[in-house]
Amino acid sequence: MSLSQSEQEQRDYYNRIASVYDSHYANPEALRYRTEVFDRFLPGEDFTGLQVLDAMCGGGENSVYFHGRGASITGVDISEAQCKFFQQRFPDAGIVCASVLRSGLPPASYDLIVTESLHHLHPHVEAGFQELIRLLKPGGRLLVWEPSSGSLLDILRKLWYRLDSGFFEDNEASIDFARLGRDAEDQLTTLRLQYGGNFAHLFVMSSMQFRLSPRVVHWYAPLLLWLEPLVEKIQGRLLSCWGLALYQKKTR
Ligand SMILES: C[S@@+](CC[C@H](N)C(=O)[O-])C[C@H]1O[C@@H](n2cnc3c(N)ncnc32)[C@H](O)[C@@H]1O
Repeated sequence: MSLSQSEQEQRDYYNRIASVYDSHYANPEALRYRTEVFDRFLPGEDFTGLQVLDAMCGGGENSVYFHGRGASITGVDISEAQCKFFQQRFPDAGIVCASVLRSGLPPASYDLIVTESLHHLHPHVEAGFQELIRLLKPGGRLLVWEPSSGSLLDILRKLWYRLDSGFFEDNEASIDFARLGRDAEDQLTTLRLQYGGNFAHLFVMSSMQFRLSPRVVHWYAPLLLWLEPLVEKIQGRLLSCWGLALYQKKTR
């Protein structure tokens, strides 16, 4: 099936930047940031034996967490270069190198689907969200981690992408979590929704955007990782970079 223009642009863009992306987002400090966010959001969870789909998996930066905790992982990504990184990182995982909007994966197959890239599907965010719901087993859960709309930092983020020609802002949306949950409330229950993301999100996990060398990040990361949860307590949606939501598919 042929890809839409926005899908082709995403594929070509991530094929071009895959190595640089991997050097920033898969560096130990950036991965530690994810681990700490997931540990705080899903405390004490056991993923052993769960079928997990990492949707728009990139090099599997989210999979590192779930694979390391016993889940059986499948990745789907549109970029061949990103799929290669994923395969090298997880030789025992499945990988489908296709658009998540037309992956050909069978319905009701996963216990947990994790994504932090719905915003890259713009203008097909709703279709992508519906596709993820289709792939979930009844009772299965969907973990969505995205730039949050309705935040002052989102205005700065959009401005940054517009001014910085090194980045590709056409497919960059931000997600209105309240609306996302409301529009799918006959299919999903919202189990948890949290807003966060401050110093460590910006200068440790998102070091690529600021061209911060991972070697430099290594020096200040411990301080910012320590600060992040403290600042998070007083942030609220208006001052947060991201939203993180956990939904459960209704069994009917
Ligand atoms: C920001 S990266 C996220 C990678 C990884 N999940 C992470 O957490 O760092 C966005 C990823 O989405 C992929 N992508 C964009 N549009 C896609 C689509 N329609 N179908 C599948 N993957 C897509 C890109 O190739 C890229 O690897």
